Amino acid sequence: MFVSDNLNINENGHLTIGGIDAVELAQQYGTPLYVMDEQVVRSACSRFRDSIEKYYDGQGLVCYASKAFSCLEMCRIIQSEGIGLDAVSIGELYTAVKAGVDVKKIGFHGNNKTNEELCYAVDCGVGHIIVDNISELERLEKIAEEKGVKQHIMLRIKPGIDAHTHDFVKTGQIDSKFGFALETGEAFEAAKQAISCGNVELMGLHCHIGSQIFDIAPFEEAAKVMLNLIAQIKKELNYEIKGLNLGGGFGIKYLNEHDPAPFETYMERVSKVVKSTCAELGVEQPFIFIEPGRSIAAPAGTTLYTVGARKEIPDIRTYISVDGGMCDNPRYALYKSEYEAVIANKAAEERTEKVTIAGKCCESGDLIGENMPLQHAESGDILAVCATGAYNYSMSSNYNRICRPAVVFVNKGESRIAVKRETPDDIIRNDI
Ligand code: LLP
Repeated sequence: MFVSDNLNINENGHLTIGGIDAVELAQQYGTPLYVMDEQVVRSACSRFRDSIEKYYDGQGLVCYASKAFSCLEMCRIIQSEGIGLDAVSIGELYTAVKAGVDVKKIGFHGNNKTNEELCYAVDCGVGHIIVDNISELERLEKIAEEKGVKQHIMLRIKPGIDAHTHDFVKTGQIDSKFGFALETGEAFEAAKQAISCGNVELMGLHCHIGSQIFDIAPFEEAAKVMLNLIAQIKKELNYEIKGLNLGGGFGIKYLNEHDPAPFETYMERVSKVVKSTCAELGVEQPFIFIEPGRSIAAPAGTTLYTVGARKEIPDIRTYISVDGGMCDNPRYALYKSEYEAVIANKAAEERTEKVTIAGKCCESGDLIGENMPLQHAESGDILAVCATGAYNYSMSSNYNRICRPAVVFVNKGESRIAVKRETPDDIIRNDI
């Protein structure tokens, strides 16, 4: 009925999220409100885990890409699911550590890590650091030497794969700020240098080809390309690389016409390619890491807003303004990403109009979407935007000094606050 399976309609004709009336959630916690459904997060984690078990004999680890959505409660859930985590800044790492995530299962990312971040990651004892460039390799080698440790690392490789997704979320092609290029020989040279280092141990290669990708073929292609590099390193440097991190990027359903392949199919096909390519190239089957972010967090989230002004501009469009906007969801402004929306208190009614949903920021581009089919919306209605669990809260801002919304988790008919709503005092907290 809705893009997210946890959404339904109750006897009052109201939208329900994980079985709870969305209008009641809006009344209890206020709007705008991010609502995360714990069961949706957990079921995505276990599907990823189980598919590695089934198709790759359990020889892999799911590392949740916490950039999609991070707070203490989310990290606690990730930890209790027994999976790992990918952190990309000291803030994401600190959150995961404070939440009790097993540091050995954390991979630390970033294309421009500071020395402070590298020191913190080494001090925490993170499982591996994904090194992006030579300067970082050299700085990390020095830091590890000073601290008297041998730090496990992976190298981030640009495999040269063109994934069919928005230009801004493509990362695997040669013209990208992330990682070492394969085509130019830069990746091989980096591996050579890493192997010669005394205080880092090259335990894996990493690639990430982009985000919101529906097609499985580019992932298969990336796996093959990476295994060829592993084979080249084995042959020419006599060094066996044991880990292969295939990144994240699995597409999700934002609109009814989206039809992403299930993770199980991804895992089945990629495992097959990894096994056959290894046999062909004569290399050991690597331990696999995957880093799904969006596919774990996005379907779990729904944002609730209160409708304010309605402006009908004859023959042009109807604007429905809400009490949030690009400050809590910048994805339409940034990528023209489309969402399904529903008036939560009229969820059983037909969607009879197509509207532009505008936010409250002083910015014409502050839209949640255009041409969105919606029930007739009036001031005071509760608007729900679906599948907002990833890259919404995590990309939110205080533009116009607007306070960030609260985050609430729902679970089996109960709700609890996970992140408090900001107040104007939070806005001036660091002002002197
Ligand atoms: N691993 C690495 C190294 C990444 O760079 C990313 C995402 C992921 C994993 C997780 O990818 P996912 O499974 O979530 O697609 N802000 C954009 C998405 C940027 C993704 C950046 N990297 C958006 O809102 O669509």
